[in-house]
Amino acid sequence: MANNSPLLRDDLPGLERVSHVTPKEFHHEFVLKGKPVIITEFARNWPALGKWTPEFFSTRYGHLSKDVKGVEYTVAEQMELIKSSTVEKPAPYSYNLNIDHVFPELTADVKPFLLGSSDRFANPFWPHRLFSSAIKQEVFFGGKGASFPVLHVDLRHLHTQITQLYGDKEFFLFAPDQTPYMYPRPEYPLYSGVDDVFAPDLERFPLFAKASGHRDILKEGETIFFPTGWWHMTSIPGPSISYGRALLEKSNWPGFLKDTHIEWRKKSPVLATPALLLGKLAGGVMRLRE
Ligand SMILES: [Fe+2]
Repeated sequence: MANNSPLLRDDLPGLERVSHVTPKEFHHEFVLKGKPVIITEFARNWPALGKWTPEFFSTRYGHLSKDVKGVEYTVAEQMELIKSSTVEKPAPYSYNLNIDHVFPELTADVKPFLLGSSDRFANPFWPHRLFSSAIKQEVFFGGKGASFPVLHVDLRHLHTQITQLYGDKEFFLFAPDQTPYMYPRPEYPLYSGVDDVFAPDLERFPLFAKASGHRDILKEGETIFFPTGWWHMTSIPGPSISYGRALLEKSNWPGFLKDTHIEWRKKSPVLATPALLLGKLAGGVMRLRE
């Protein structure tokens, strides 16, 4: 493998790690400062840890199915595939399921929330219907060699939390100030245009060599947080089950509302402006509970 990739540098630093953090400290030190962090003990007492295993999903939800690149796989098939996955023959990825649609009862297994009372997705006044297209929480099933090999920024100005519930996962992160080296795609600027991040064509993407990021392994039980605007991708060393949670609070609310308004305008130009006004009203109401 070529070693000219900024993801394979020997001196790539890891992330800041803390064992515990209160919602107030988390908001002040990491969300508002725009800093990623790994919180090693945050999820240690979650019911999901030790429960969300391949066997659990296979037994309880094995009949459900999902399309990955045009092929339908049941959860039971995917659980077998992640166990036998290899670099040469990786399990289908991204195999992710929206928890609120598919198994909302599992939400009880992934509490408490990192943001506490400032978490707008958990606010009692969160307007579900207005933002029905926003995905709040997902579970990802992956195996050795499986990855989504494109550096990208998550949608709608959402911050991201990933908690590793089974196996480990490797993360590569680049701060928003590295965007000039990422070659954002003209048609979809949240995705990097770099062809192969582990063996890039530096004649086509010379600035990518200047990118300076972080690499860290999220171990079973640990939680990673990265703020909106951070470029990221993962690589999976073995069977892996991850819980992904979008985080929305007052600092990324204006960006979320603006991006959602753009989507509304595409779907229904007539309803987009009233929906935006309702969204702004909902933001004011939710603030009363924060
Ligand atoms: Fe992402």
